Formats: sequence, structure tokens, C-alpha cells
Amino acid sequence: MSIAGAGVEPFYAVEINRLANERSRRGLPVIHMEGGQPSAGAPRAAIEAGHCALAGAEQGYWESGALKERIAAIYGERYRLAPGPSQVILSMGASGALVLALALLFERGSRVALPRPGYPAHRNVLRAMGLVPQELDCGPETRFQPTAAMITVLDPPPAGLILTSPSNPMGTMLERGELQALAAVCRARGIRIISDETYHGITCGRRAHSMHEFEPDSVVINSFSQYWCMTGWRLGWALVPVDLVDTMNRYSANMFLAPPTLAQHVALAAMDEQAELEEHVATYAKNLDLLVAALPGLGIMRMAPADGAFYLYADVSHLTSDSLAWCRELLEATGLALNTGRDFDSIHGSNFIRMSFAVSTPEILQAIDLLGGWLRRRSDS
Ligand SMILES: Cc1ncc(COP(=O)(O)O)c(C=O)c1O
Repeated sequence: MSIAGAGVEPFYAVEINRLANERSRRGLPVIHMEGGQPSAGAPRAAIEAGHCALAGAEQGYWESGALKERIAAIYGERYRLAPGPSQVILSMGASGALVLALALLFERGSRVALPRPGYPAHRNVLRAMGLVPQELDCGPETRFQPTAAMITVLDPPPAGLILTSPSNPMGTMLERGELQALAAVCRARGIRIISDETYHGITCGRRAHSMHEFEPDSVVINSFSQYWCMTGWRLGWALVPVDLVDTMNRYSANMFLAPPTLAQHVALAAMDEQAELEEHVATYAKNLDLLVAALPGLGIMRMAPADGAFYLYADVSHLTSDSLAWCRELLEATGLALNTGRDFDSIHGSNFIRMSFAVSTPEILQAIDLLGGWLRRRSDS
């Protein structure tokens, strides 16, 4: 019997992580910079709140009204918007919110545009849901982000556009004017925007704007995974226009019944722990500065100009034409785990690597030493 999804692409970060874990099991040290998650866990006080909730609070299918109110309030604090709590649809991570949005918004077979390089699950989930990804080739001249001009020339226009700012794997952000221009062209051409704002809160001193400021008909997806350091708790949300609230709730109930209960208690408490979370963001900024200062001295000059998230996307085409093999060799020789660009770009990705710097600063310093030593040994041999 045929399997419809057999063609789904591998996730190379997972493969490198598996190799890194095998190495750890052999008792060898590893620095994990291959994955897309903070090395810190949820705030201490939030974990405490989770313990208390386990002892006495609701355990069944449940949705926290207080959490939805608190999330809606963020849009006032960060972006001067005033959505109602009902516009917040809780989900299993931003991943769950994406599935809900795609199921709700697009007919099977519709084209949805998205940047390449970009987060691989966007492309692969589109395919899994019977939609057609239309990749926009984004290079250094636009800081690897799509522009309004790219959307203007798509003929016929796609049904949707997925944007990610700050992006994974480049960490580059769409500025206010760029978001405004994208919103305008999409409105004029009837293109629905899904704005992935998973990395909001993690920006290097810059203010991130939400697409909802410029296009109230967009669907914004966000998550407790990254800023709140809660990847394994599987909680996120979609912010939807008022006219989508009822249908989105119906989809959500049918597909997932309810968001994870314990995670909702923990997330609500985590939202009060800004001081601890901002310390992590300060560490990421410091780590980025260290890498940007050190890599050119190691011969890695061309990097995307990251302004947020915790990724550095670097061109290593002068060192290899197969960055997956290069990452495997580096890991085996040094214990430093990085990811190949192939996860993010099926055309040019073999020329790139992604370094995830959501680790401690001593680990970053050690990573620079290991990489430098390995590159020197390679060029000498
Ligand atoms: C751009 C982007 N969107 C969504 C996700 C998935 O997030 P979640 O853990 O909330 O499902 C990730 C995870 O790395 C991501 O990088």
C-alpha cells in the first residue's frame, strides 16, 4: 500500500542531535549548538507553580481564562494593541497553532508563499496538509527576508504568506516599514498572512513589531517555547481576527480537545518572571557578540546580520560544499554540534551552517576554541 507522506524531508538537526547524544553515551563531552531551543528551563517560580498545581488544581481538559487574558494583555504592553482574550486560541506550541491556521484558512491545493531559507516545518507542514509551498528565494541583499516587491510579482497571487520575524535560521527581523509594505501588498492582492512571532521577546535591543499592528486580518502564531524557555511544555497560541474566533475554536476542539493543562499553570506563572527571562536574553546577546567578533578570525566572514532569536547563519561555502558532512566531522573531532543549512534551504543550504547560541557564555567561548583549533588542523593537513 502506498504511504502518502513517505516523501517528507528529514530534519537534520535531529540527526546531528542523535549523533551528539551517542557521543555523550560514550562518555565524551558535547556542546549542543545544533538544536532550536534554549538550554535553560522554565523560570524557577513557574516550576514551583507547576508543583502546586499538581497538588490541587484542575487536571482534566481545561482552558485557562486567566492565561488568555494575560496573553491578550501582552499585545497592549508590547504593541499597543487591544485584542480581546477570546481572540487568543491556545494550542500545542506554535506548531499546533500553525496546523490550526492552515486547516482553517486554505483550501487543499492552495499555494502559500514563504521564505527560503526558512523554518523547515513551515514547508513540510504545508505539504502534509495538501497545500503547495511557494518558496521565495531570499538572500543577503534583503537580509534573507521576503519583501513587498517579491509578493507583487507573484502571478497569480498565492492564497497565503508565512512570515517569520525574528527568523529561524537567520535571526533577521522585518522592520516596521517592511511589515507595513508586506501588509499593504497582501491586503491589495487578497493574500492571508500568517505571522510566526515565536522569537518575539528575544531581540538585541530592538523593538519587534507584530503583524497585527498593520494587518488585523493576519493570524499571528506565538509560543511559550523560546522566550519563556518552555519547549517541552508544548504550549503556544494563535491570535486571530474576531471573525475567525468561532471556527478556530471548533477546529481546535476537534483536533486537540484542549491545550496541555499543567503547562497552562506553569506558563501563567512564567509570565511574571521577566527578570529571570531577561537574563537569558542578555546572555544570548553577549554570546552573539562573541561569535560575531571571533568567527571572521577563524575564516568565517559571511554571516546573516542577526537581530534576534539565538541563531547565526553562516556561509561556509569556501570550506565545504557539503555542510552536513562538515558538521558530522566537526562533531566527531571536537564534540561541537552545529546544524547544516540543508534543513532550512534545500537549494543552497549545503553551503551554510546554523549555530544556535542559546547556551552558556563559557560554552560559547569553548565552542570558538574548538572550532578554531579544528579549522586550523584541517587547513594544515
Ligand atoms: C520559527 C519557528 N516557528 C515555530 C517553532 C515551533 O515552536 P513550538 O515549540 O512552539 O511548536 C519553532 C521552533 O523551533 C520555530 O523556530
